[in-house]
Amino acid sequence: MFDTENITPMSDEEFVSIRNFVYDHCGMYFEKDRKYLLEKRLSRRLVINQIPTFTDYLLFLKYDQHADEEVAIAVDLLTINETYFFRENYQLQAFIKEIIPELVKKKKDKTIRIWSAGCSTGEEPYTLAMLISNATVKLGIEDWNIEILGSDISHRVLSVAREGVYSKSSFRETDESYLSFFDKVSSGYRVKDELRKNISFIHLNLLDKKRIGLLKTMDVILCRNVIIYFDVEAKKKVVQSFHETLDKGGYLLLGHSESLMNVSTLFGLKHLKNDMVYQKPGGENTVEDTAPEERERITDFSSLFTSEVAETNNSENEPTTNKEDEQSTEEPSSLSWSKIWEKK
Ligand SMILES: C[S@@+](CC[C@H](N)C(=O)[O-])C[C@H]1O[C@@H](n2cnc3c(N)ncnc32)[C@H](O)[C@@H]1O
Repeated sequence: MFDTENITPMSDEEFVSIRNFVYDHCGMYFEKDRKYLLEKRLSRRLVINQIPTFTDYLLFLKYDQHADEEVAIAVDLLTINETYFFRENYQLQAFIKEIIPELVKKKKDKTIRIWSAGCSTGEEPYTLAMLISNATVKLGIEDWNIEILGSDISHRVLSVAREGVYSKSSFRETDESYLSFFDKVSSGYRVKDELRKNISFIHLNLLDKKRIGLLKTMDVILCRNVIIYFDVEAKKKVVQSFHETLDKGGYLLLGHSESLMNVSTLFGLKHLKNDMVYQKPGGENTVEDTAPEERERITDFSSLFTSEVAETNNSENEPTTNKEDEQSTEEPSSLSWSKIWEKK
């Protein structure tokens, strides 16, 4: 039987070649000290495909007729998908108490589009939907069109997001009152249909500028705990795409430990009561059009947070369990696609 013993250990050259391939594909960058991780996680693909060396596996990833499928599976094995409802809640309070009310005042077309980029198993977009649902009457937006897009590069997490069934660990920071948005099922809690109706989940690589260019203009982009795994060059590409996708005055919300320092001067920093967030200059109520060099100086604000709101990223070191049989190539229905995508 072909097993791990039949595989030649990954050489340093093989590590560099595969690391570069993964980086070029999705922006995730593995330092040399993470060679063991790459080797460990990809070894089972060599076993499954009965490939004895990582050199042959790289050729498979590049040239096999099923290469696209295999690349998607390999990326699934390498991504870190840790997430939960109401993560970094102080920022979500800024979102619902300050950003959304401002957009409600501003948007004449009664439409707000929000993109959770790198949404993993969906807790983030569902959290946004719960917050908006609870504030709908107060904001007087019952007849508004609120579209939430969740995207990720991993098919496996997207199938969980679409299924919408969550276990206890996803609720670790959730107030019990929000359980009213879920039905109890044998395997946990299932998101009710009324919450799903404005959310679409799509497969999207954040380095795929062409496909991102097809998205409708967004009012808010949340990209939290995603680009921390990217190097500066990849971050620059992604942030440039966000800038192009956002409306003037639109908001970019990164994770608490992330900043645009040395990455981009395209955004201004807006001090809200509950948080500081990035804003695309140019619209009404935008941060004053700060000079680029000044923006560079003020874009690093991670150190301004107190330890009270700082959350450790230790849990990010290991991905959730990957199961081959959970791979899904399912795409969203054409209905939800047409709501979100349009040629600009
Ligand atoms: C740690 S999770 C963050 C989930 C959520 N945003 C949060 O803060 O809880 C990071 C997600 O980014 C996704 N990701 C990594 N590289 C990506 C890329 N190039 N394009 C799209 N998604 C990517 C991973 O698959 C993973 O699900």
